[in-house]
Amino acid sequence: MVGYILWAQKSGFRDQAVLELDQITVLPALHGQGIGRALIDQSLPQVKSELAQQGSTLKHIIVNTRADNHAQQLYRDALGAEVVATISDLYSADEVFIVARSLLL
Ligand SMILES: CC(C)(COP(=O)(O)OP(=O)(O)OC[C@H]1O[C@@H](n2cnc3c(N)ncnc32)[C@H](O)[C@@H]1OP(=O)(O)O)[C@@H](O)C(=O)NCCC(=O)NCCS
Repeated sequence: MVGYILWAQKSGFRDQAVLELDQITVLPALHGQGIGRALIDQSLPQVKSELAQQGSTLKHIIVNTRADNHAQQLYRDALGAEVVATISDLYSADEVFIVARSLLL
């Protein structure tokens, strides 16, 4: 295993689902080789397919991360996500809350 991604369905069983990209990580030695992007690109269609089987479509994706985490750029590029709020000193530092409303995948 070189990395993993965890999606969570936040909206209960609604017709229009809101997903949270809850966790994503890649082995440090393999950063910067496109694995993080591939995890998103390859898993999201599978999740959307699962939603379709429930009769749901994907409305938004939410994700939060430390304000200084370069993962923000990944979320912008892969999902078209934008920062909607910053909460100061939440966990270990300021935390940004990010929403993808115009889904790219
Ligand atoms: C975030 C993480 C999963 C990205 O995985 P990765 O395999 O390194 O990412 P990719 O190689 O697919 O890069 C995708 C984009 O992320 C951004 N990125 C990745 N590494 C970066 C770095 N060191 N500095 C700046 N941007 C970076 C870039 O926008 C990159 O796109 P580009 O290659 O077109 O410039 C990885 O850095 C990681 O595991 N970090 C520790 C755990 C973590 O912070 N998870 C997110 C918590 S919310």
